Formats: sequence, C-alpha cells, structure tokens
Amino acid sequence: MHDVVGGYGDTQILHGVSLRVERGEVVVIIGPNGAGKSTAMKSVFGLLNLSSGAVTLDGEPITNTPPEAVVRKGVCYVPQTENIFPSLTVQENLEMGAFVRTDDFRPRLHQIYALFPPLAEKRKQAAGTLSGGQRQMVAMGKALMLEPKILLLDEPTAGLSPRYRGEIFSIVQTINAAGTPILLVEQNAKQALSIATRGYVLVDGKNKFEGPGDTLLNDPEVGEMFLGGGASRAPPG
Ligand SMILES: Nc1ncnc2c1ncn2[C@@H]1O[C@H](COP(=O)(O)OP(=O)(O)O)[C@@H](O)[C@H]1O
Ligand SMILES: [Mg+2]
Repeated sequence: MHDVVGGYGDTQILHGVSLRVERGEVVVIIGPNGAGKSTAMKSVFGLLNLSSGAVTLDGEPITNTPPEAVVRKGVCYVPQTENIFPSLTVQENLEMGAFVRTDDFRPRLHQIYALFPPLAEKRKQAAGTLSGGQRQMVAMGKALMLEPKILLLDEPTAGLSPRYRGEIFSIVQTINAAGTPILLVEQNAKQALSIATRGYVLVDGKNKFEGPGDTLLNDPEVGEMFLGGGASRAPPG
C-alpha cells in the first residue's frame, strides 16, 4: 500500500502509510497502542474508506475493494478478536474458512490438521472450549483453508502465555516457509522482529522507521522507544 490516507467516518487515522510485503517475506508492524496498526491492516482488506493512496496486490489495484472480493483474490485476514465461531466445532470452523472454495478442500483440511496437531484431536469439540493458543490455531487454520496469496494476522499472540506465544511465532515461520507471505501486527515486538524479514514502526498513523527485522532490533532509537529500552538482541528461543 502506498501513501494511504483514511479512517473511520470523518476521523482520519492514517496520514500517509506506505508498506509492502514481497513474496517469501514475514513483515511485522509494531508501534504504540492506537498508532493505526490494525487500521492499516484493515485498509488492505477494504474495511475502511481511503481518501487517498492505493492498495495493490501483485500490481493490481484493490483499493476500497469490499472484503468478500479481497478474499476471493487471495488475501486472508485474521482479526485480533472474534476470529472464530465459538459454538461451532473446530472442523466446522475450518470448513467455514473454505466457504468460497468450489473444489474439494479435504486435502487442505488434512494439511491444516498436520500443521496444528492439537486441532486434529479436538476436531469435534466446540472451538470456544479450547485454550487461547488453540483458538488462535483455529483462526489461522480457518484463514489458511483458502490457500491465500498473503495472510494478515493482527496480534496473534495477544494474551497468550509465553509457551503458546513461542508456538504461534514458530507456526508463523512454518506457514511462511511453506510459501505464504505474512503481514503481522505485534505487541511482542522483540520476538516478532526476530522472526521478521522486515519491519515497520508506525506512530500516529505514519511510518516512523522501517528496515530488516534484525536492523530494527539492534537500532538504539527503536530499542529505546519501542522495545523497552536500549538496543536489543533477539531473545533466546
Ligand atoms: N472502528 C473504529 N471506529 C472509529 N475509530 C476507530 C475504530 N477502530 C479504531 N479506531 C481508532 O483509530 C485509532 C487507531 O486504532 P488502531 O488501528 O486499532 O490502533 P493499533 O492497532 O495501532 O493499536 C485509535 O485512535 C482508535 O481509537
Ligand atoms: Mg490493533
């Protein structure tokens, strides 16, 4: 997306945000609460009205395209909350994820269960009864049912224990290694940057810093302001 300006109703939130995700990349957006990270992600997905700027997918303009059409073009988005159907079973959730597919999606279902073994065991259980980490797996699995060209994840580790957080980050790496580019919004900035190809720091609806994950991680100014003080190294594990 390029020079995106827009917001909700008359309230302008994004004042010119530019970011890109190339094939093979994990790109992370960090920044303070309220900076516009989720809003930037929603703008890709046609969820707000842009007054200027452009969003493109493989060079094709998709600016202000409605969400259903963006999904059909291969962009899948996992919002931070309310990203599963709690009363449906795990399997029903995954099947819902495949709703626009007209072909046989069963092979894909097996791949998702192979990627998330705990879900295979609990396929007949209501998704709302699972742990936070497992619900996040359902949300990601549901999005992956469409074999997207790009996956957008808004704070997938929010509220998770360190163990599940690590697991989600390693799943993100696995999905990416299997060929899906990923755009990730994260509060756990150090861990996210340590797995990212590139990162962006957004502040007040504008780009503040950008660069390779390890460059941002070791940048004293970024460290001081956004990573809890001092230049930082990737945490162990
Ligand atoms: N649906 C909405 N309607 C109106 N304002 C919103 C909406 N969602 C977010 N905002 C406002 O937009 C600003 C940026 O929010 P958001 O993109 O969620 O920030 P971040 O994800 O960086 O924490 C905040 O001031 C927030 O209050
Ligand atoms: Mg947010």
